[in-house]
Amino acid sequence: MSRVTVMGTGYVGLITGVCLAEIGHSVTCIDIAPEKIEQLRRGISPIFEPGLTDLIEENLRSGNLWFTNKPEEAIPQSEFIFIAVGTPQREDGSADLTYIQQAAKTIGAHLSILNTVIVTKSTVPVGTNGKIEEWIKDSLHATIPFDVVSNPEFLREGSAIQDTFQADRIVIGSENEESAQRVAALYEPMNIPIFNTNRESAELIKYASNAFLATKISFINEIANLSEKLGADISDVAYGMGLDHRIGTAFLKAGLGYGGSCFPKDTNALVQIAGGVDHRFELLESVIKVNQQQPLKLLNKAVQHFGSLQGKETAILGLAFKPNTDDMREAASITLIEHLLAAGAKVRAYDPIAAGHAQKIFGDRIEYSGSIEECLHQADMAFIATEWEEIKLLPLSIYQKQMKHPVIFDGRNCYSLAEAERHQIDYYSIGRKT
Ligand code: UGA
Repeated sequence: MSRVTVMGTGYVGLITGVCLAEIGHSVTCIDIAPEKIEQLRRGISPIFEPGLTDLIEENLRSGNLWFTNKPEEAIPQSEFIFIAVGTPQREDGSADLTYIQQAAKTIGAHLSILNTVIVTKSTVPVGTNGKIEEWIKDSLHATIPFDVVSNPEFLREGSAIQDTFQADRIVIGSENEESAQRVAALYEPMNIPIFNTNRESAELIKYASNAFLATKISFINEIANLSEKLGADISDVAYGMGLDHRIGTAFLKAGLGYGGSCFPKDTNALVQIAGGVDHRFELLESVIKVNQQQPLKLLNKAVQHFGSLQGKETAILGLAFKPNTDDMREAASITLIEHLLAAGAKVRAYDPIAAGHAQKIFGDRIEYSGSIEECLHQADMAFIATEWEEIKLLPLSIYQKQMKHPVIFDGRNCYSLAEAERHQIDYYSIGRKT
């Protein structure tokens, strides 16, 4: 059992802390927001993530998990300090390291036992772990040996706990073999393959992985756009491609493009990182451009169908950037709704859990429905923006019953063309014949 501090109780920090507590370590999570800490102490999670609340409660009860906003209560006794604070996007697309620097300074100011390993979980530009080391050194009161190890995170929102316990790999970037071994030992109960490398490679593995997955998505979306014109069906094309194990079927689902707090931010940051060493990453620039245009492709189908969208009663089903999360950051639904409003459409939206976040973005510019049926009632058109289970499984007869005349623009290909035809629905989707 090791004593661990996790700095930052955002997505990555909270999941990391809770999962390390679950495998028996004594974990203290620190956050600068006192109200967040108060809630967490009472077992209330600030984020929606399946299974998380149970794990928090369980580990609070067992005494493995603590929350505080006072770094001095945790850092001086810790053998490991995880940095899991945010690296938001700056105006120019690069990563803002303000919180990382603050965390490093806080660590330096409170470090007291010898050979603490600082583990960087936050997604940081290549070379940042070296800077963290310098920032900590600059804030130390005495000469205290410590080491900084890169340990990027690969979990997905909505399946974060499962992803942590059943990860494909744990990447540890360190030139110091002993530190790398200590971090590996911390994770040992999870029984996950470890890949050791240097810090720069570990930092780049994180960006390259997200950029590659984003590339797969933009690629398949372009093939989808082509399929529509050539009479092919994107589901079959993607499946047929994926049967080649060198390609694989994962992340080849065509739709409205990728959203969320990671792919958009990390692809932009990697373009900036490349620019910093005089390399123009044109492939990734195209991936980003394709992604920005993808929601508009569906919108254009509505314009073509109706001519004008002025005054059209529009139902948006799903707001979150993907199912099983209330996160709306960079969600395709935002682009869709903004353009629909600009075109004069009257928008009302339904999402099982993300409406609160939507309200902060749209205020009273749109209406919020408490159920799918309410949202569809007397609508002229419906857009499917997020493939929540209840949306995916909704019988087409409900659209028939609720809408004036059912016209569906399905950004997630939830229905078969045959089914839509059987229900006499004007049905438009992605990468298939209309
Ligand atoms: C992503 C990565 O998958 C994680 O490995 C990584 O740790 C995380 O970013 C991060 O850097 O923190 P996440 O953003 O939670 O995880 O979501 P994903 O499940 O990867 O989906 C991202 C977006 O791509 C969603 O909008 C989703 O709808 C879209 N997507 C995904 C597609 O359009 N098609 C696909 O085939 C797969």
